[in-house]
Amino acid sequence: MEKDTNSRGQWASNLGFIMAAAGSAVGLGNLWKFPYLAGQNGGGAFVLVYLLIVVFVGFTIMLGEMAIGRATGLNAIGAYKKLSKKFTWVGMAGVLSGFLILGFYNVVGGWVINYIIKFIGGGISGDPAAYFGGFISSATAPVIYALLFSVATALIVWKGISGGIEKASKIMMPALFIMLIVIVIRSVTLPGAGAGLSYYLTPDFSKLTPGAIVAALGQVFFSLSLGMGCMITYGSYLNKNENLAADALIVPFMDTAVALLAGFAILPAVFAFGFEPGAGPGLMFITLPQVFASMPAGTLFGIMFFVLVLFAAITSSISLLEVCCAYVIDEFNWSRTKATWGLSIIIFVLTILSSLSMGPMSGFLIIGKNFFDLLDFLTANILLPLGGLMMCIFIGYVWGVDKAADEITQGGKFAFKLRGFWTIMVKFVAPIAVGIVFLNMLGILKF
Ligand code: PHE
Repeated sequence: MEKDTNSRGQWASNLGFIMAAAGSAVGLGNLWKFPYLAGQNGGGAFVLVYLLIVVFVGFTIMLGEMAIGRATGLNAIGAYKKLSKKFTWVGMAGVLSGFLILGFYNVVGGWVINYIIKFIGGGISGDPAAYFGGFISSATAPVIYALLFSVATALIVWKGISGGIEKASKIMMPALFIMLIVIVIRSVTLPGAGAGLSYYLTPDFSKLTPGAIVAALGQVFFSLSLGMGCMITYGSYLNKNENLAADALIVPFMDTAVALLAGFAILPAVFAFGFEPGAGPGLMFITLPQVFASMPAGTLFGIMFFVLVLFAAITSSISLLEVCCAYVIDEFNWSRTKATWGLSIIIFVLTILSSLSMGPMSGFLIIGKNFFDLLDFLTANILLPLGGLMMCIFIGYVWGVDKAADEITQGGKFAFKLRGFWTIMVKFVAPIAVGIVFLNMLGILKF
């Protein structure tokens, strides 16, 4: 039975859609992961590979997902099921990814809230590494902060598409951007920032190992919110009078700009104060507080920085929750209230486990990883690239590029100058590139 699409909700404007989609993309992936991955994988060389993958694979899949979403007006699972029953599982893997990512995303979101409160109280006294290690490994405090973060997420999703998600994104995204620019200016004008800039901008290709390429690919999927039906879901709330091809260019552009700016905010400051760029996941929580402590007006910059990270994280966590909610709302007629709070409770079980895996349960390892790292690895490195690969195969060879292009141009109403490029990318380049990296990671193909 066809449903009235308005009962699902709709974006009030195209700008609102762009802010929400960019809000989904810009998140902990840009601010927390990207700078430390760049720091660990050779700086400039990693950045260059990342950019190439965004242009050739990221844009391609972004546009494909948006087209599937708007064509069907349905959630990730419903959309694939409507177009081809055989691909329903791809939607299911997507919704599952939403659950799993939120499982650890809530935990990091909680850490960020704790850091805001710490900085409002004047900063971290004592050794930041000891503070961070002690905090994340304790049993209750991080779980309570994660709860605060997931309640904030649920409140926004509960208010619906235009009244909740769109409104929050339209306020938080511009605010985030302004704060980030202020911090970048502070960072690059610090005495000694030059060493960080040259590390970040000069590619050292000897550092470009297969592992670095796998990391860059996974990072593109994670950072652009691709491969799990997020852009299908958001695209399903967009009306037919908007130019999809333009939107699919703007969103990756904004996301990449923020990732690059995050590097400019963090790496020069890290070098200026003589810290290690390859500090890994602790870069933002251990190294940066030390940087802020050694900086004039550092407390203020610390508060501003972690508030901006919180805004970025929330506009992403709401999209993850929405992917799951849209499914039960469309397919099982759940009310938004039941969907939002019911699913949040289920997800919170995963959140508790991943928070505890940093401390009391750290000895519980699956394939050598604790629960938190397992969720991160399973989603960013396996489920999202697999979802993206299947989407390319689906559009290229099942649904058909012509039908997708027809949706994108609305039967020729909108120009689609990149049609030739996109067709080659979606049919050949993107699936082959993702496939090769995938086989390498599984150890089937060595390079
Ligand atoms: N893109 C988000 C980030 O960079 C994470 C995310 C992944 C959100 C997948 C939605 C879907 O943090």
